[in-house]
Amino acid sequence: MSNAIVDGGRIGIEDVAITLGGALVLHQQEALEIPAGEFVCLLGPSGCGKSTLLGALAGHLAPGRGRLTLDGRPIDGPDPERGLVFQHHTLFPWKRVLANVAFGLKMKGVPRAQRERQARELLRLVGLEGQESRYPGELSGGMQQRVEIARVLINHPRVLLMDEPFGALDALTRVRMQQLLLDVWARVRTTVVFVTHDIDEALFLADRVLVMGPRPGRIIENLRPGFARPRGAELVTDPQFVALKRHCLGLLHPHAEGAVRNERLTPLGGTAVPGGQLRFAL
Ligand SMILES: Nc1ncnc2c1ncn2[C@@H]1O[C@H](COP(=O)(O)OP(=O)(O)OP(=O)(O)O)[C@@H](O)[C@H]1O
Ligand SMILES: [Mg+2]
Repeated sequence: MSNAIVDGGRIGIEDVAITLGGALVLHQQEALEIPAGEFVCLLGPSGCGKSTLLGALAGHLAPGRGRLTLDGRPIDGPDPERGLVFQHHTLFPWKRVLANVAFGLKMKGVPRAQRERQARELLRLVGLEGQESRYPGELSGGMQQRVEIARVLINHPRVLLMDEPFGALDALTRVRMQQLLLDVWARVRTTVVFVTHDIDEALFLADRVLVMGPRPGRIIENLRPGFARPRGAELVTDPQFVALKRHCLGLLHPHAEGAVRNERLTPLGGTAVPGGQLRFAL
């Protein structure tokens, strides 16, 4: 892909407080910096403020206090330099895949031949070569999310903000998508802030896992899993991976740290998936 390497992408979070509906939902007092090109996962239970923080980084809501910066400049509104991917895609159903991916460049006035060439390159990057003429409704959920990622990447974002992007996919597709995302990121090297409440997903993907606690939302743990890349599916059985998972489980469910030992079903609603791996819905 041309222009694959993105410049910048350093995020600063400085004493940020966000109030919604009169309630303080997020207060991150301790200053935090995410270096350019880092893959960060925000892990935390439902309602702890993950989407709120991501929405603020996207520029969709302004903190009542503190500062969010990108490469030292305050974030003061949405911008394609911070690309957002949600659980459900935002593709135009009436446009073909190629036109959906090329749309961001069309908005910038890039000539058709040039934007379509870049869209094709990105579709190849996400493994969708040959699907250019199909409509989103003709694709599987995993393929739609791959188009969505290509649609966002065409703007060469310095930051990719992802809010449970694989949350609606089945377990196998989800694991494949995680692998694909790491492959894409290895080429593009944009900063990624990826929200999840899946411990496996966070530990598998991230350079750094920021674990959030609720009321008001804040970061309660800053972990560097440090597993070598490229990472394969077998990583989840690595003793160090299992130890970190137990640690995260202890943070998120302080009363159930031992539950990860039970490989079948846990009182937390975790279910065994192929490979003896446990998946917890937090
Ligand atoms: N528009 C709103 N008005 C009032 N309160 C809100 C609003 N949006 C979110 N909240 C509250 O802010 C808190 C954080 O919500 P947020 O959506 O950021 O959580 P989350 O960590 O993303 O949860 P989930 O994992 O369920 O997506 C919750 O208590 C939620 O009820
Ligand atoms: Mg959320």
